Amino acid sequence: MLVEIFPDYETLSERAYELVATLIRRKPNCVLGFATGSTPLGLYRRLVEGYRRGELDFSKVVTFNLDEYVGLPPSHPQSYHHFMWANLFQHININPSNVHLPNGMVDDIEAHCDWYEEQIRRVDGIDLQILGIGPNGHLAFNEPGSSLGSRTRIKTLSRATRRANARFFGSEEAVPRHAITMGIGTIMEARRLLLLASGRAKARAVRAMLEGPISAMVSATIVQLHRYAHVLLDAEAASELAYNHHDGISEPFDVH
Ligand code: GLP
Repeated sequence: MLVEIFPDYETLSERAYELVATLIRRKPNCVLGFATGSTPLGLYRRLVEGYRRGELDFSKVVTFNLDEYVGLPPSHPQSYHHFMWANLFQHININPSNVHLPNGMVDDIEAHCDWYEEQIRRVDGIDLQILGIGPNGHLAFNEPGSSLGSRTRIKTLSRATRRANARFFGSEEAVPRHAITMGIGTIMEARRLLLLASGRAKARAVRAMLEGPISAMVSATIVQLHRYAHVLLDAEAASELAYNHHDGISEPFDVH
């Protein structure tokens, strides 16, 4: 794993931008996996700015998002569809037919999940998957107990996650109970992972992810098995690490 620690969220976001922008320039038809949550917002803002400055062209970029709440229509302000369009897609020249998110409104969820996996295979997989981490150590909505070989499917959200996301919905009760999420097996097939974590609230999950034993109870620990996992942390998110990951720093991976 390549772990880089930055003094604050802005420098972390700047580094994430540099890595994603480099990939888009070298491979204009790259397949990007996007995440929601507050953590990647600094990256998305920079991607919009890079596009406006004429540095980036998204016309051939293909995207897949990690997850979506069940029961929220794309127009719902808290749906991940809405989040992605409001924070990124509507501001760049992405081709809407290249954008993929699970649809939380379908009747046949199982068939839809199979279809989603098929769409990822059809474009020969995800080049770079951007990830956040939940305070309980989950990736996407792969809650504690998720099979480490899981594929895209419906998951029941844990109490901790619904509590953590209540801030967006006004109350815990208003947070949907289920979500469609890429599985851990799906995420692990991405050629590269870029995981971002910021703030003290993530420090314990980050420690478990990087230094704890691999466990279905903390799905993010699976990144330890990925060949190209790149983890960007700010000082607060790194504050509970025991090992000095700075010592082990190597050259950032080359994207191709
Ligand atoms: C949700 C998303 C995750 C995200 C997590 C952390 O649970 N499904 O993909 O990583 O929130 O969000 P934040 O970045 O807001 O802390």
